[in-house]
Amino acid sequence: MQYAALLAAAAATLAQAQQMLRFSCSQLVIERLDPLVNPGDPQSPHLHQIGGGNSFRADMPALDYDPVTESTCTSCTFAEDFSNYWTANLFFRARNGSLLRVPQMVNMGLKADGGLTIYYIPPYDGRSNVTAFTPGFRMLVGESALRGPEGMQRQLCHRCFSTINQIPFGGAPCTGDDTAALPAGMCHGGIRTTITFPTCWDGVNVDSPDHKSHVAYPERGTFESGGPCPASHPVKLPQLMYEIMWDTRQFNDPGLWPEDGSQPFVYSMGDGTGYGQHGDYIFGWKDDSLQRALDARCMNDRCKELVSQRSELAMECTLPQSIPEQTEGWLDALPGNWSITYS
Ligand SMILES: *[C@@H]1O[C@H](CO)[C@@H](O)[C@H](O)[C@H]1NC(C)=O
Ligand SMILES: *[C@@H]1O[C@H](CO)[C@@H](O)[C@H](O)[C@H]1NC(C)=O
Ligand SMILES: *[C@@H]1O[C@H](CO)[C@@H](O)[C@H](O)[C@H]1NC(C)=O
Repeated sequence: MQYAALLAAAAATLAQAQQMLRFSCSQLVIERLDPLVNPGDPQSPHLHQIGGGNSFRADMPALDYDPVTESTCTSCTFAEDFSNYWTANLFFRARNGSLLRVPQMVNMGLKADGGLTIYYIPPYDGRSNVTAFTPGFRMLVGESALRGPEGMQRQLCHRCFSTINQIPFGGAPCTGDDTAALPAGMCHGGIRTTITFPTCWDGVNVDSPDHKSHVAYPERGTFESGGPCPASHPVKLPQLMYEIMWDTRQFNDPGLWPEDGSQPFVYSMGDGTGYGQHGDYIFGWKDDSLQRALDARCMNDRCKELVSQRSELAMECTLPQSIPEQTEGWLDALPGNWSITYS
């Protein structure tokens, strides 16, 4: 299929042409750091892939450390976005137990080097405005220790693509055949992870001890259906979503898979189930740029309210690992020496 046709098809399936920001944040660094869950720790327990502003470091206290002024570049398309976005990494486990990091494919219509596709989605009614995040804001969705569906937050899903850039792309995230668990069978076109954050805020706290309690899901219905926020968390936020396209195609040979046919992929915290997937966010947009872009109902990665940079420049914004550790090539163990759980 021609690229233009692919794009048109992708746009058409993007929630029926709902207006939303959709852009790339290339890989800034892959390392064991987590300023949200393990602030100040020189090495967090498991490996992450991080995109966004290059002021990312182990210690980023809310309000004291401003990513906008501390960063000198961002790996994101929008040059005013110094936020940090991070998730676990996916690995392939060979029959001999060696592990290889699963690379990522570029998402439809975008240009990037690994990293994440980021969405900021305004209300679906096309009219009402949301309150963009305020300086210092951060949150976490998902729970890295989960190995089963009990206690999972909403809207953390995997999609199994039968072909590369599968058309139709499928419906909204977490509909159709999407699963909370890692797909059980072989996905010839790769695996997509989508991580969607809660959309209601208490309006006061930029963080909370569990990095979750200051935000909530709509009281009834969903963000998509315009569900109201609970009285405890009355401020409606944009819906933040991460999308990661894992390029599993080099592992499409059944001869590489476990002899019993079970799936061989595992997240960096030793999670072979997929239920532990999670996303972390530290807000870092310059001034009111995000608010203006949302109010103007900007579409995709072009927005007259925002300063864009060429993808090549975004890809040049990288960080060295603060503590060098091997993450590429065949590894004997996951960084952090995690034992692996498959059920
Ligand atoms: C383990 O298996 C993989 C895939 O077959 C192979 O590339 C790798 O060299 C093996 N590692 C060891 C230590 O034998
Ligand atoms: C939302 O913001 C835009 C831009 O500032 C404004 O034109 C519009 O009236 C606002 N919508 C509502 C419902 O307040
Ligand atoms: C992981 O195991 C290796 C080999 O047994 C060891 O050298 C290394 O120190 C361990 N690392 C951690 C973080 O436990």
